[in-house]
Amino acid sequence: AKVKPLTGSLLEWFDSVRDTRGMPWRKEYDPSLSEDEKAQRAYEVLVSEIMLQQTQVSTVIRYYNAWLERFPTIKDLADVTDIEEVNALWKGLGYYRRAKALLEASKKVVKDFDGRIPKDVAVMEKEVPGVGRYTAGAVCSIAYGVKAPAVDGNVQRLFSRLLAIHAQPKKAALDLIWNAASKLVETTDRPGDLNQALIELGSTICKPQNPACGNCPLKDGCAAYRLANEKAADTVPDI
Ligand code: ADE
Repeated sequence: AKVKPLTGSLLEWFDSVRDTRGMPWRKEYDPSLSEDEKAQRAYEVLVSEIMLQQTQVSTVIRYYNAWLERFPTIKDLADVTDIEEVNALWKGLGYYRRAKALLEASKKVVKDFDGRIPKDVAVMEKEVPGVGRYTAGAVCSIAYGVKAPAVDGNVQRLFSRLLAIHAQPKKAALDLIWNAASKLVETTDRPGDLNQALIELGSTICKPQNPACGNCPLKDGCAAYRLANEKAADTVPDI
């Protein structure tokens, strides 16, 4: 209940930035698509999410387009027999383990799931190689409209500040954050947009150093912002 009023401001902010960086994988969720069309989106979102794990958006766009041109569907990828073929397309992105995981994921999905990435986050996390809780949540919410949270490092920092979470050990803090993110995503019928709003707000506004709080749609509800400004007020010289 505590985090509920944030959804409106978040989505409004996301609507204002969603098309500004030309991300080809960022398509509006359309519930009327067929299951096959949604599964195709899930493949595209998976490719983008794996690439974005250690690489910035502007670089990923080029690699994503080249990848989708060579492997338009998950079936095309699963047909690859020589890992060097995917490595060649990954050249420049680094962390080749990601390319290998993507190839293995495609083979598993074609073999065991009829070529459709599962829409159950628990199944996806357990069965699809290279997919953890974050990636499962991101793919299922964005491509299938599933109300699952997706907490990456940027979203972690955002929630730590928003809720002033100082819990130790780190595992306890993470549990609090995943729970808050779960509650928040339950409050919207646009879970994919909400998660992308959090991811993008975390990476572009709620930055590790010098966060741009003035531009943040959540500042009115942010505990860290409030604390920082009370402290600032207290340090004004008393003339
Ligand atoms: N980083 C990871 N996932 C992303 C997404 N869907 N949009 C923008 N940046 C991201």
